Amino acid sequence: MRTYKLLLLLPTLLLALFSCTAQKSKNTTLKDAYKDKFFIGTALNLDQIHGKDVQSVEIVKSQFSSIVAENCMKSMYLQPEEGKFFFDDADKFVEFGEKNKMFIIGHNLLWHSQAPRWFFTDKDGKNVTPEVLKERIKNHITTIVTHYKGRIQGWDVVNEAILDDGQYRKSKFYEILGEEFIPLAFQYAHEADPDAELYYNDYNEWFPGKREAIVKLVKTLKERGLRIDGIGMQSHLGIETPSLEEYEKAIITYSDLGLKASITELDVSALPSPWGTSANISDVNKYKKELDPYKTGLTPEAEKVWENRYLDLFKLYLKHQDRIRRVTLWGVTDLQSWKNDFPVRGRTDYPLLFDRNYKAKPVVQKLIDLTK
Ligand code: G3I
Repeated sequence: MRTYKLLLLLPTLLLALFSCTAQKSKNTTLKDAYKDKFFIGTALNLDQIHGKDVQSVEIVKSQFSSIVAENCMKSMYLQPEEGKFFFDDADKFVEFGEKNKMFIIGHNLLWHSQAPRWFFTDKDGKNVTPEVLKERIKNHITTIVTHYKGRIQGWDVVNEAILDDGQYRKSKFYEILGEEFIPLAFQYAHEADPDAELYYNDYNEWFPGKREAIVKLVKTLKERGLRIDGIGMQSHLGIETPSLEEYEKAIITYSDLGLKASITELDVSALPSPWGTSANISDVNKYKKELDPYKTGLTPEAEKVWENRYLDLFKLYLKHQDRIRRVTLWGVTDLQSWKNDFPVRGRTDYPLLFDRNYKAKPVVQKLIDLTK
């Protein structure tokens, strides 16, 4: 009799079990789902750092385990005038990260863009000497890394110094110091905080010429006994570009150097690109209506294609989770994304995981379910 009663109860029990596991996965967030795999992060703008954009901040606190500042830690903002450092916004950013127990990234110490003009010029506006630039780089990196010693876990030490064909970018750093500015930057950063992780960060990091040049750079740094912990693959991606094969090859190539690969500025544009996938902000193109087809929302077909792209990418990250340190989205909601103004100003793009109403897109639950 008792067995018969139990058999009657079984379907109810199973239903209860199923619904609570389903409910349990529904309550899981990105950061909980990926906590044993890699950090899942996002980039914060000033409104989020200062808590003005309350809805974004709630998403960041609940969904992400790592943060990076979208702009306020770049040299033009941290040292707008020689010797005058402005830490207010960056301090707030780090405090937010500490309060929410996040893996905090400093972006970035040396970059040709958003760098103050005074950094490279003397009082007559001419290029400074290599000695002077070396001193300015040392002072900039030492002051900032020391200021956040033990509080920032990883630094993008140098950003975008190599072109897609593997040549060095002809930046002012390169013009005045040649390739030497990179080893110097890693040396100064390590001396200022020996426990901080140090990265080289770039975009189009799957281009063969650039990939080989980055491998050569890493070997040079290691031969000189300089610490480097990872390669930042910005990953400003399109629906079809790059192919998963060439992208996977980059992840494997960099981690085979004994480093971790990090996906540092992930976004997947749903819009047609007038050309490749450059992230060089000055390569902006003229607005054309046909390049902006989803002003009022993605079609179900376009959403499906975009969603499958994210799912394919995260399947790849999970496949290589032992090689990956973090996956950081370059912003919280589509509203914030730089892709609305690049490579064509004034478009309506859908590159991130949360929509303009601060709602998680359906892909978020699917990315969580991937970890099951
Ligand atoms: O700070 C000024 C503000 O005073 C002014 O009122 C406002 C009006 O135009 O502009 C503000 O500056 C803007 C800045 O973002 C801060 O919001 C610049 O015009 C704008 O060009 C700058 O864009 C940033 C871009 O880097 C600059 O290169 C994007 O937000 C940021 O997402 C983007 O991020 C870079 C990564 O650091 C490196 N990898 C590529 C990635 C995309 O370019």
